[in-house]
Amino acid sequence: MTDDFKFSNNDEDIEVILFLEAIKLKYGYNFGDYSRAHIKRRIKNRLVKTDCKNILELAHKAITDEAFFANILLDFSINVTEMFRDPDFFKHLRNEIIPILETYPQIKIWHAGCSSGEEVYSLAIILKESGLYDRCKIYATDFNATIIDVAKDGIYNLESIKEYTKNYNLSGGKQSFSDYYTVKYDHAILDSSLKKNIIFAEHNLVTDGSFGEFNLIICRNVLIYFNRNLQNKVNNLFLDSLAKGGYLCLGSKETIDYSEVKKQYDTFSSEHKIYRKNRKV
Ligand SMILES: C[S@@+](CC[C@H](N)C(=O)[O-])C[C@H]1O[C@@H](n2cnc3c(N)ncnc32)[C@H](O)[C@@H]1O
Repeated sequence: MTDDFKFSNNDEDIEVILFLEAIKLKYGYNFGDYSRAHIKRRIKNRLVKTDCKNILELAHKAITDEAFFANILLDFSINVTEMFRDPDFFKHLRNEIIPILETYPQIKIWHAGCSSGEEVYSLAIILKESGLYDRCKIYATDFNATIIDVAKDGIYNLESIKEYTKNYNLSGGKQSFSDYYTVKYDHAILDSSLKKNIIFAEHNLVTDGSFGEFNLIICRNVLIYFNRNLQNKVNNLFLDSLAKGGYLCLGSKETIDYSEVKKQYDTFSSEHKIYRKNRKV
């Protein structure tokens, strides 16, 4: 159990601990090292949407009703994402990192916490436009099986496409964004060629280990929900999973600056939170 939650005299904290333990025992998901503020906020939001009188009743419902638990999992995971989110980051990736990856015969990429897939398809588009896609294997993972299914489909609401087109253009897109999807009713279906080298899979950063050696790991807007202890653990997992000279890309509010792995990296772009694993590690 996280330090955040240890030895609390606060009744609400105790109920939250019991809630998380119940979920861990029943389903194996360990949220003990997620940020306390985040977890409490999500539990309280869910509580007001139910007829449960308190967190203990909510815990009982979560362990006796799997469909209800699926909603709790969605609450905790926060799946907000978009295509070419932070266009400047993708521009930097395209202009500064792709030319280096271009010199490799094969490129292995891990996109961790990929949510519903918008970011990984954005990456696929950049790789295609750079002529690198056929040399790449991209592992796109998330711990939420429901959201991975959405990612595999690659079908998005047409309403989002205007924003995604703007992001694509700002990120240095070379074609017309409409080349990458077809419209059906109120949905945009992404071109299936983008999926060819993407392997979508369930992977839990808290409990699962390394599964390869990658040239690039992208994990954006995930560590922000973890406490320092879990951030360190996951940062060590990424360090173990990167090839020498491999790149780690984090979200705009995330950094390895305070992490125990900092010495093993050079900062490639502090603005875009991109780090390069030392060649000598
Ligand atoms: C806010 S989304 C970020 C999506 C995307 N990377 C982006 O930046 O737009 C956070 C994602 O992290 C996933 N996540 C949270 N905890 C995780 C864990 N322990 N293991 C793997 N994925 C996790 C969530 O399911 C969610 O899809």
